[in-house]
Amino acid sequence: MTHLAIRGLTKRFSGQTEAAVADLNLEIESGSLVALLGPSGCGKTTTMKMVAGLLEPTAGDILFDEKSIINIAPERRGAVMVFQNYLLFPYMTIAQNVGYGLKIRKVDRAIIDQRVSEILEMVRLPGIESRRPSELSGGQQQRVALARALVVEPRLLLLDEPLSNLDAHLRFELRDLIRDIQQKMGITTVFVTHDQEEAVVLADKVALILDGRLRQYADADVFYKRPADEATARFFGGQNFISGTSANGTFEAALGSLKLPSDAPEGTGILTFRPENVRIGAAADGENTLQAKLTDKIFLGTQTRLKLAVGDDIITAIANPNDVEGYLVDQEVPLSLPPATLWVLTK
Ligand SMILES: Nc1ncnc2c1ncn2[C@@H]1O[C@H](COP(=O)(O)OP(=O)(O)OP(=O)(O)O)[C@@H](O)[C@H]1O
Ligand SMILES: [Mg+2]
Repeated sequence: MTHLAIRGLTKRFSGQTEAAVADLNLEIESGSLVALLGPSGCGKTTTMKMVAGLLEPTAGDILFDEKSIINIAPERRGAVMVFQNYLLFPYMTIAQNVGYGLKIRKVDRAIIDQRVSEILEMVRLPGIESRRPSELSGGQQQRVALARALVVEPRLLLLDEPLSNLDAHLRFELRDLIRDIQQKMGITTVFVTHDQEEAVVLADKVALILDGRLRQYADADVFYKRPADEATARFFGGQNFISGTSANGTFEAALGSLKLPSDAPEGTGILTFRPENVRIGAAADGENTLQAKLTDKIFLGTQTRLKLAVGDDIITAIANPNDVEGYLVDQEVPLSLPPATLWVLTK
């Protein structure tokens, strides 16, 4: 197991004014799975390649168990990367593909055969040793790519959007398989994704990168309850942002005065709360209850999205369809915002 530290890591490609990765700092606990989350172009692959040794950083350091590996050749770092497009060797059998890393390490043939069978068993593809990659489905090829990475027992597993070429069903299945194997082997893993749900389901901790900068690094639930800033809240599906002032446990805004959780930051800022935490109907004690008018109602299948006007502010709510069946557009509807579900962004 390996602790990964990324310190001040920066990559500036020649001819570009903005750094692709700017002063990134991350500590990844030994044996944990961290999701590197962010939109296309935010620098995820660039970061992974620098850790794997496929790309030289412009500045900063990368440490495995507190030892800098910057000057160590990629093949000697013990970090393996699995890519979105599998990259299997087409003319080799599955056994040769999976055993490749062991062969170049001059491991005994009999041991290679045994390890290959074991690892194919682990990714739930037993008995396919003699097939070629072209004879496998995309999901199977990705499992072979995973097996090929795992067979060398790497110190660090770097998965770069390994599920994004697969259909939803396969993605869920493989996601669970990766989590399962990662926990069994206790291998420190960085999982790159632009899918917030995938990050939340898989990871012990999530690192959100926007515009080449780390915005927040925390347990998944913190992104919902205590987002670092508006862009972070929006990336995680936040839709309600109301300007005002936080003081003495109360938020004062045009729509009224609302009680805040005791740890809410103070000062001029933006009140945020998640659509699924807006309660339709008045609170029993009347706390944080506002009079609103329903302006829009969209049935989404398992949930219903409501737009509610409170003065000039529009609040978005997500409700259980059964709970809001009776409400009609243009109707007056009270709503309540439980204090514990509110947060204030002051930067
Ligand atoms: N070899 C390169 N030369 C110049 N610019 C590059 C190079 N590789 C990447 N970039 C730029 O660096 C930025 C980050 O790219 P990167 O591939 O790391 O993004 P990403 O987060 O992995 O995106 P995606 O989700 O689309 O894979 C982009 O603006 C990209 O155009
Ligand atoms: Mg990428």
